[in-house]
Amino acid sequence: MNRKVTVVGGAGNVGATVARGVADKQLADVVVIDIADQKAAGVALDMLEACPVWGSDARVLGTGDYAESANSDIVVITSGMPRKPGMSRDDLLNVNFKIMEQVTAQVVKHSPNCIIIVVSNPLDAMAQAVYKLAKFPRERVIGMAGVLDSARMRAFIAKELNVSVDNVHAFVLGGHGDTMVPLPRYSTVAGIPITDLMDKETIARIVDRTANGGAEITKLVGTSAWYAPGASVVDMVETILLDKKKIVPCSVFLQGEYGVRDLFVGVPCKLGARGVEKIIEIKLTPDEDAAFKKSAAAVKELVGVIKV
Ligand code: LAC
Repeated sequence: MNRKVTVVGGAGNVGATVARGVADKQLADVVVIDIADQKAAGVALDMLEACPVWGSDARVLGTGDYAESANSDIVVITSGMPRKPGMSRDDLLNVNFKIMEQVTAQVVKHSPNCIIIVVSNPLDAMAQAVYKLAKFPRERVIGMAGVLDSARMRAFIAKELNVSVDNVHAFVLGGHGDTMVPLPRYSTVAGIPITDLMDKETIARIVDRTANGGAEITKLVGTSAWYAPGASVVDMVETILLDKKKIVPCSVFLQGEYGVRDLFVGVPCKLGARGVEKIIEIKLTPDEDAAFKKSAAAVKELVGVIKV
């Protein structure tokens, strides 16, 4: 294939789900990088052996050596400690920042023109760390959170109303933490806002479950989620590689948009071959704006601790 996607931390649950999705969908050749290099080799070999079944000619390789990742189109960073039950994403701040320092240096050295998708938590702060360390233009460093958070909200809406997920669109802004801002008035079923279809209590319950969606899985499984996070990254990879210009919520380095400057926060973005091709600004109500600013302030506090 003439496209190459590298997944760093690719032997872990989220990384492997991303690698598998990209290979199965034949979007690109895949390099699985992990400090657990033997596991990376084995996981990648298993995926390669699945490719004939899926009818995919993707070449999949696993290694600890970044040289194999050279000139990737997209590098997905999933490295870092996952959450344990009772831990917030923020508890991972310092340890995962150190990992971002090591990983980013290697990514930039071997793939200076790539688009980086950051998945490590706490998401917005880690995306900002990678952006500052990589010194790439802001279009090429993107945090994955909004696709996941809105997928969770879509799943809950579809279940509540017993309708196809195909009909459900959900809109979530803000940082990837419990201050995230699901927007019910922009969340729709077949184009109808959910505010016309459900009572306030039901919507509040869905909003709350969305904001705590990661913690709900962590409590049940004992570690962070991986199927929905992995699928969300694959969707972003596909959107970029196929230059689809799809509008999805992503964490990006805001430069005054939504009244926020020099900070990664989740907003609707047009994704295409150049990465973030446009930030879509919508008018927020005073309540929504206050919730968004509160979420941004939570991210700002974290980036202040790691000084990025
Ligand atoms: C979650 C983690 C991946 O939301 O942040 O499940």
